Amino acid sequence: MNIDIITVLPELLEGPFNHSIMKRAQEKGLLTIQTHNLRKWAINKHMQVDDYQFGGGAGMVMMCEPLANAIDELQEAKKYDEIIYLTPDGKTFNQKAANQLSLKNNLLLICGHYKGIDERIRSQYVTMEISIGDYVLSGGELAAAIVVDAIGRLLPGVLNDETSALFDSFQDNLLAPPVYTRPADFRGDKVPDVLLQGDPKKVAEWRHEQSLLRTKTRRPDLLEEE
Ligand code: ADE
Repeated sequence: MNIDIITVLPELLEGPFNHSIMKRAQEKGLLTIQTHNLRKWAINKHMQVDDYQFGGGAGMVMMCEPLANAIDELQEAKKYDEIIYLTPDGKTFNQKAANQLSLKNNLLLICGHYKGIDERIRSQYVTMEISIGDYVLSGGELAAAIVVDAIGRLLPGVLNDETSALFDSFQDNLLAPPVYTRPADFRGDKVPDVLLQGDPKKVAEWRHEQSLLRTKTRRPDLLEEE
């Protein structure tokens, strides 16, 4: 999978993708992430990419031309399955959306800043708008990092068997069961017997029960989703 990201702060995205699982995914050639500094398409020598909003009011708006020129140029090299704008008024991201996006080949992510991007870029280019939650970040970069991480770990071959995404919380609309490691007795607090007895069928049953219980008590809304 190829993911291109248009941003005014490419430095902000260096950290999240250069460690652990995202790093391994790229090293294995399963995922290519390229950031593109929007200032490359700035309208003047002052590197301008934003301007005051028509109608007045505080806050700058990211201009049409730099974004349109950036997207046009990137689209010459690749056909994108989705052009995604990260924005608090987008559709809330969840595991189902991550699963669906993990099946695509080429994604283009646009990170907004300040008051956001000119509406005409949204209507003319953007095919999907994603929010990572009901709060406002100072820019789309951290949201993009979260979306890329959630998608990237689902690509076949990225995770090994032990860390398989099949058993994550939210797959099947259930939260993951509790997990334990050594010692079996921590200050008198013991690991449930079933996990120590070595019967895989009983372990699987216990985990499923715990998943259901956890979901019912913490996130009953998940059980109502189809
Ligand atoms: N940009 C600013 N806030 C955001 C959010 N909650 N989700 C996605 N992009 C954003």
